[in-house]
Amino acid sequence: HAAPRQRKHTMTRISEQTLAQLAQQHGTPLWVYDAALIRERIAQLSSFDTVRFAQKACSNIHLLALMREAGAHVDAVSLGEIERALQAGFTTDGSGGAAGLVFTCDLFDRATLRRVVEAKVEVNAGSIDMLHQLGAVSPGHRVWLRINPGFGHGHSNKTNTGGENSKHGIWHSELKDALALIRQYGLHLVGLHMHIGSGVDYSHLQQVCGTMVDLVTGMGHDVEAISTGGGLSVPYREGEQPVDTAHYFALWDAARKQIETHLGHPVRMEIEPGRFLVAEAGLLVTEVRATKQMGGNHFTLLDTGFSELMRPAMYGSYHEMTVLARDGRDLRAQDARATVVGGPLCESGDVFTQLEGGVVETRLLPRAQVGDYVVMHGAGAYGASMSSNYNSRPHAAEYLVDGAQSRLIRRRQTVEELIALERLD
Ligand code: LLP
Repeated sequence: HAAPRQRKHTMTRISEQTLAQLAQQHGTPLWVYDAALIRERIAQLSSFDTVRFAQKACSNIHLLALMREAGAHVDAVSLGEIERALQAGFTTDGSGGAAGLVFTCDLFDRATLRRVVEAKVEVNAGSIDMLHQLGAVSPGHRVWLRINPGFGHGHSNKTNTGGENSKHGIWHSELKDALALIRQYGLHLVGLHMHIGSGVDYSHLQQVCGTMVDLVTGMGHDVEAISTGGGLSVPYREGEQPVDTAHYFALWDAARKQIETHLGHPVRMEIEPGRFLVAEAGLLVTEVRATKQMGGNHFTLLDTGFSELMRPAMYGSYHEMTVLARDGRDLRAQDARATVVGGPLCESGDVFTQLEGGVVETRLLPRAQVGDYVVMHGAGAYGASMSSNYNSRPHAAEYLVDGAQSRLIRRRQTVEELIALERLD
């Protein structure tokens, strides 16, 4: 009888053979994305009037264009993300309906403020100072108010974006000051926005919905729309349940209906996921380059470090791993050993098997030899987009699997390119 596959919940439909072939053709480390799964996730949220992709999760312009074609809109949090969205074909014309592109931040740096005004990018303001700075130069500009409701929630303290320990948003009790500035400068209020963190917890969700209703119905100012933020969780470990998108929508829809009854007209409702659209669709293919025994611990060292996938080192995040032979054979879990999986960086924290706080763990994995591939799953969100050039490692290549349209969507950076901006003279 066939041995069980290592991976019991298949996240992408990309076969092991394809992954091994791509690794041989394009080298490792290699990001591989499944276009069909991204489209499926967008479609799953189609009850919302607008699905706005939080591109910080994965900002390759080819993926942004794919999302635009699939009907999604996009969020940008920096000048660079604005330019990416524009290159991917999103528009900034906020006249009626939902703008293709919204800029969300807690501050404007000077260059971004200039660009936002010039290109008329709708702004989701996370501070009172942003309203002063925008109002002074661009009366009539379309703005959202990002409200910090006074509480938050996250898969780690670092992804909790509400409450008084968070720097995000306009504090709920300052909403009236924000509205006064909107009137003073003649800004156009589109709606209120709340994003309290990453990772769904339905009781927090209910609390956010309630706060949204209270604020909108109590503020004495009309809105066209509300934004429910992002934060939809995905299963990273076997056994974790995917978010119930129908329940999620139902909770928010009930809130929206109360707001519509109060205002006496329809209110558009946006959702702003990052992780949900891309996490499961992305894989990081790496090669085993050394194995060693250090006292009681076995180590498997890959050609990939936290310079590529930072989540384990930053949050103690768990990514499922599978081991493939060079021909793509899925190595079987029977012949497993507990091993610490690490990377090439000159830093002890460069370990993929660790808990938050840096406690190193072992993982039970099929015995891998030098030359085998280790695939990191659920790596599409906050993977490539959080990569760095630490230890002067060039950025890895990105490949999109999309039927006949499959292609490299970012070539590997060269060391020459990495050094090119520096000067000896
Ligand atoms: N909207 C706003 C205003 C946000 O700040 C974020 C994420 C999102 C939407 C999307 O959240 P998501 O749906 O992806 O949970 N690097 C961390 C996550 C940081 C999230 C920052 N803001 C991680 O790897 O888990």
